[in-house]
Amino acid sequence: MTVTLTSHLAPDDAAAALRADALAGLTTMPKSLPPRWFYDERGSELFDGITRLPEYYPTRAERAILTERAGEVAAASGADVLVELGSGTSEKTRLLLTALRAAGTLRRFVPCDVDSSVLRAAGAAITEEYPGVAVDAVVGDFTRHLGELPRSGRRLVAFLGSTIGNLEPEQRARFLDELAGTLRPGDSFLLGTDLVKDPDRLVRAYDDAAGVTAEFNRNVLAVLNRELDADFDLGDFEHVALWDAANEWIEMRLRARTHQVVRVRALDLDVAFEAGEELLTEISAKFRRARVEAELSAAGLAMTHWWTDPDGDFGLSLSVP
Ligand code: AVJ
Repeated sequence: MTVTLTSHLAPDDAAAALRADALAGLTTMPKSLPPRWFYDERGSELFDGITRLPEYYPTRAERAILTERAGEVAAASGADVLVELGSGTSEKTRLLLTALRAAGTLRRFVPCDVDSSVLRAAGAAITEEYPGVAVDAVVGDFTRHLGELPRSGRRLVAFLGSTIGNLEPEQRARFLDELAGTLRPGDSFLLGTDLVKDPDRLVRAYDDAAGVTAEFNRNVLAVLNRELDADFDLGDFEHVALWDAANEWIEMRLRARTHQVVRVRALDLDVAFEAGEELLTEISAKFRRARVEAELSAAGLAMTHWWTDPDGDFGLSLSVP
């Protein structure tokens, strides 16, 4: 079957978005950068490494749920089109694809990601493994390009991995509203959410002993160096992961070890860091079932199913408009 790749991120568009984000984030106190800029080719590779770390349980927990429940998801959704937001390597997605194929309904797979390299590789692999399934990959940003997703067929939209946790509550509400607006009767939404648990385990999942997450975190500085001709010294920034109990989210930060001025040539900008100053690079919100249900409901989506892994670490919900 055919593989198509449509990009809604023209190279200029992505470059402009990075410039705007870097300019805004590096000139506002406290400084911050949006997590989507982690995912260049190297960043996607490092994230893949994270998913295999002993401390990083979410991927395994979600896979355990899908292994157990993909058949139920397929039956409940009756989908002929699987749309996956933030698909990455689409590794866990194969469990859904296999279940939908077994149910006899699957016609089309639409993986969407900001990283075109990972989409190309995943698209090629999946078209080999699932003959008869059309793969139409979309390069885009799930917060900006929901309107561009295919409208035909009975769709199951999957947003796995707790990537929704990268959004702040207001952004999350907007995202869910917009997504719900694209769903019609018969469509369904499968959402993976990491759950609130012992803070020590949470922090270890974001500050692993092998230092892979630290390298992933610092990779965003390498992206700025390459794309914006900046001169961040990666060794001068320490990886920080902490649990914000009030907001129930993990924060990743990069802490400047020394006072320094970083030049960002493409923005004609000098950025001063005090010694110890922290740059916020990611929030990763953790959920409780009631909150997931309430947030879906506020967007007009009714939760029909809720599954967790045996340890109760991760939640997977199915909802309908
Ligand atoms: C891909 C956003 C789900 O928040 O757990 C992993 C990214 N950051 N380790 C997460 C991440 C640090 C991950 N998400």
